[in-house]
Amino acid sequence: MSVRQRLYEGKAKILYTTDDPDVLLSYFKDDATAFNAQKRGTIQGKGAVNCAITAHLFRLLEEQGIPTHFIDQSSDREMQVRSVKILPLEVVVRNIAAGSLCQQTGLALGTVLNQPLVEFYYKNDALGDPLLTRDRLLLLELATPDQLDELRSRALQINQVLTDFFQQCDITLVDFKLEFGLDKHQRLILADEISPDTCRLWNQAETDPDRRVMDKDRFRRDLGDVESAYQQVLKKIRSPKQ
Ligand code: TMP
Ligand code: ASP
Repeated sequence: MSVRQRLYEGKAKILYTTDDPDVLLSYFKDDATAFNAQKRGTIQGKGAVNCAITAHLFRLLEEQGIPTHFIDQSSDREMQVRSVKILPLEVVVRNIAAGSLCQQTGLALGTVLNQPLVEFYYKNDALGDPLLTRDRLLLLELATPDQLDELRSRALQINQVLTDFFQQCDITLVDFKLEFGLDKHQRLILADEISPDTCRLWNQAETDPDRRVMDKDRFRRDLGDVESAYQQVLKKIRSPKQ
């Protein structure tokens, strides 16, 4: 499959067209940003690690009957994906209070939620990706009411699969962000990536609140050892307990 032209460059990935109009190539960069790109840096080897982790998790979700845009991993930092129209929504699922949930509600870091919380953020850098209410989301026509219900149930289903899987890897899935797209038949498909850039992952072998962090919070909060934490996630997901 030959690569044609750069379609879109985001903060962590570049999308290229291919000679098949239904297939795009997603290239994972080492670039890291946080706080709406106010903080920028490089995490050496991140592209390859996140590409491998995303491929692994998308295969797992496909096996569980959840449609994703993933087709195949074509090199260490590239994957072939189905072309979809991305909905301008960030769907966040939380199992444990952390990050903006703590900052905005006063809940203590680490509070276990009685049930998973699903939130929708407007994927709009100029506005700083604000948290949406259901009515605002519908007002802006970012999704239909049926799509919203489907996004919510799909997100919860994905949370169940991923929580169980990470548990087998001695990792706690604290929260994560998903993006969905519509294919040419208007079917909702999981897209983008699932990696330590887009999840909070805590190492169950560590009790110290900073040492247990295996995700982009190490970069956001200058905790150090970012590269090795990402590598460790990949190592752990490759050898789950059964
Ligand atoms: P938050 O606590 O900062 O709202 O983040 C919730 C989850 O979403 C966390 O796992 C990190 C992820 N996330 C992204 O993937 N991209 C983003 O731009 C933000 C703000 C969060
Ligand atoms: N990815 C987002 C950004 O660069 C924010 C984050 O992940 O913290 O702005």
